[in-house]
Amino acid sequence: MSDETDPLAWTRDYTPILRSLAEEYGDDEPLSDYTVALASHLEQKTGVLVETLNEAGADVLVTGSEPHSTKAEVVDALRDQPGIETFVEAGMSEEAWEAGQHDLLEREPDFILDDGCELIAKVHADHPEIARHVVGGGEQTTAGITRLEAMEADDVLEFPVYGVNDTPMKHFFDNVHGTGESSLSNVMITTNTMLSGKTVVVGGYGYCGRGIARKARGMGAQTIVTEVDPRKALEAHMDGHRIETMEAAASEADYVITSTGNRDVVREEHLDELQDGVILANAGHFDVEIGIADLEDAAERVTEPRDGVTRYHLDDGRRINLLAEGRLVNLTGPHSNGHPAEVMDTTFAMMFEAARDMLAGGSGEELAPGLYAIPDRLDREVAYRKLDTLDVAVDDLTERQREYYEDWEHSDSAF
Ligand code: NAI
Repeated sequence: MSDETDPLAWTRDYTPILRSLAEEYGDDEPLSDYTVALASHLEQKTGVLVETLNEAGADVLVTGSEPHSTKAEVVDALRDQPGIETFVEAGMSEEAWEAGQHDLLEREPDFILDDGCELIAKVHADHPEIARHVVGGGEQTTAGITRLEAMEADDVLEFPVYGVNDTPMKHFFDNVHGTGESSLSNVMITTNTMLSGKTVVVGGYGYCGRGIARKARGMGAQTIVTEVDPRKALEAHMDGHRIETMEAAASEADYVITSTGNRDVVREEHLDELQDGVILANAGHFDVEIGIADLEDAAERVTEPRDGVTRYHLDDGRRINLLAEGRLVNLTGPHSNGHPAEVMDTTFAMMFEAARDMLAGGSGEELAPGLYAIPDRLDREVAYRKLDTLDVAVDDLTERQREYYEDWEHSDSAF
């Protein structure tokens, strides 16, 4: 296929780490005895990850982690490749999407690469016999880690899972820079409005919120952050953002963008405060951060003035605009492309390494069921691969520097 007809061609050029993994493991095929299930927003970058796993020998079963983020052309490109099976279609109903996930799990995968803990939660809840034979898993987002922590607290996990989200090569780049840039660009494209000089209220100052707030300010917006964690609030304050409660911030907002991993961040009591024309968007994993039922209750009518914009007309004349139906604005809106490919290259390289390490590196046999940090050696390896793609060199520790770190007494007088 040429780069005009192959929907993954452009993205392959911007995912050099995945290409380097495919080259390194394409001959030996260390995953050739295994079936890997993957749930992720099924767009171009995910397509390249699927290819990479397949080139390393795995049979890959693919579904979406969200019913509205699947790209038809990517499903078409993957569907007919040997060793790849898709269980999702663009424009699927929520029920059909769920049914596809159960069909996938019934194929008894050895490993589950997950997003939002969709497949891992379902295999435990609905297919316990199959869960008992899964070797391991990897989870790519904060919301999924929260669910896995709850599963671990309830002592129900049947296999080890690497918390890919929590590794530095994921959250320092994907959550901060990927979510920051792609959320703001989608807000601007969907609304054809300008952030410069506007007031942007950011709900939550975790990794994603930090990226959104920092980049909004970089574009000339005034930024206000809302938080529930006093330390995160202080961090935002020290980074130069204003801190307010949502109730106080709502009246000043031109935009409110949430990314907390929590629910009802904008809710009934805030609606009275919002200005006419305010734009609400969510970048958190689930569509529960903005109280849609509250908006529906308050509205005397609802219109769709632009693709991807739902407008709630309140009886006092104010109009509240909600983007992408409160779903992830960077992934589910009509113009959404998700994160830039370069940043998904590092995230998906960590997902690939999670599967390779547990299946072919032997770590899965050593680990009891539970949630684990990705070994530092894998995180460093992906960091070095990324530096290589950028043609950037870093120093190595000298022997004396290494000894200095290891000698707590600092006993060598030469120190
Ligand atoms: P995080 O845990 O680093 O940050 C969340 C922050 O929200 C915390 O500081 C917490 O104190 C705060 N928070 C919780 N409830 C709040 C409330 N009611 N009001 C104000 N602040 C509140 O999590 P991270 O990594 O920033 O992820 C946030 C969400 O974004 C998760 O749902 C995650 O899955 C999702 N995510 C979305 C991506 C995308 O492409 N849109 C990419 C990566 C993560």
